[in-house]
Amino acid sequence: MTSSPSRSGVFQAATDKRLEAFSESISFDHRLYPQDIRGSLAHARMLCQQGMITQEELAQIENALAEIGGQLDRGELPLRQELEDIHMHIEQALIERLGDVGRKLHTGRSRNDQVATDLRLWTREAIDRLDQSLLALQRAFLSRCQRDQDVILPAYTHLQRAQPVLAPHYWLAYVEKLARDRQRLADCRRRVNVCGLGAAACAGTSLPIDRQATARELGFEGVAANSLDISSDRDFVLESAFVLALIATHLSGWAEEWILWSTVEFSFIKLPQEFCTGSSIMPQKINPDTLELTRGKAARVIGDLQTLFILVKGLPLAYNRDLQEDKPALFDAFDTVQAAVDLAAPIVEGAELNRVSIAARLEKGHLDATTLMELLIKRGFPQRTAHHLVGSLVATANQHEVTLSQLTLEQLQAVHPDLDRSLTSALGVVQAVKAYQSYGSSNPEQVADQIARWTAQLQ
Ligand code: ARG
Repeated sequence: MTSSPSRSGVFQAATDKRLEAFSESISFDHRLYPQDIRGSLAHARMLCQQGMITQEELAQIENALAEIGGQLDRGELPLRQELEDIHMHIEQALIERLGDVGRKLHTGRSRNDQVATDLRLWTREAIDRLDQSLLALQRAFLSRCQRDQDVILPAYTHLQRAQPVLAPHYWLAYVEKLARDRQRLADCRRRVNVCGLGAAACAGTSLPIDRQATARELGFEGVAANSLDISSDRDFVLESAFVLALIATHLSGWAEEWILWSTVEFSFIKLPQEFCTGSSIMPQKINPDTLELTRGKAARVIGDLQTLFILVKGLPLAYNRDLQEDKPALFDAFDTVQAAVDLAAPIVEGAELNRVSIAARLEKGHLDATTLMELLIKRGFPQRTAHHLVGSLVATANQHEVTLSQLTLEQLQAVHPDLDRSLTSALGVVQAVKAYQSYGSSNPEQVADQIARWTAQLQ
């Protein structure tokens, strides 16, 4: 009546075609096939070790699974909606080849623990792949530090010119953010790397399986201690999606910054043309589409996280079919972030700072005002007084369209009789950068130390 191996003798009616179309997951879970085959091999070996299938049967299963894997690699296994998911496709292909021997593979196993295990294996690999790409992106930022070591940029707060910093101080800010992203991925990976195989449907099994053996074979660090919990647990999916959403958010902020910097108004940076697009009507345009999409696609990833929260928030223990919907969101989040990180690295490497135009405007906006205030503090003025006096000096400078270092003795003393020109010799962005002392600041020696630390760490 039906070819689905999951439809037992209890059924007296065939599945409605509309349900088949509504409930299939093969259109997205086919990508779990390498993990499903690995999991099935580990399970079959354990069944043999425990005496539930013979050596001969195991050999047949191993060979047939290798063949089916090859067919899937080459896109030769027809995907059929009525077989619902990748797990049933592979099992059905096995049964078609081996008959009753194929029918033994599912001994002591349920699709509930199978699907969760496959997804953990997939997520572990996806984390490792993404970690390598994040490392490459960190290295791309770090490699700019040598190239741009003498460039001073304005730092902004509220997108208003604030204080001068070395360009490498900017690059290392992103290296730090990415380092935390990688820590979060590594931490999340520990909870991904737990084996649920053998939880069966929800309560375990009365068959003599060896869960430690399958966990070991699949490289899991631990064996889940509660079958109800682990067959329903999707914390690892949500955690991964959170880490991905945060990475996407970091990339989005960087993309926004470089989009601004690449405008004529800022003219700080020239983006590599391989990653820009043109306009169909305005011939002069070189548009930063990669960065815009990096910013735009962050919305999708944050949406994926939200989807997952809403998906699981009302589920009682243990497996519920809703959980099938976890995969499109998780896959999309990983695919989107992986692609964005892989595009970010060559953009970071290939961009050029417009040194001349940056330098030409660096003394605009009184980036050294805070340095001047701190000089006054060192000369004994209380901070609030110094803050107020420098504000008045900025007003004078603005009025005469000069920099703080160009203020005359008369202009200084009109603000306070104790001020003199010796103050102004310590001004200008170069001096201001040198004046920083605190740990983590943009002081050139501090920055050099940080570059050395990261160079050692990221090799
Ligand atoms: N296609 C399902 C999924 O991905 C497989 C698990 C089905 N289990 C079940 N008891 N119907 O979640």
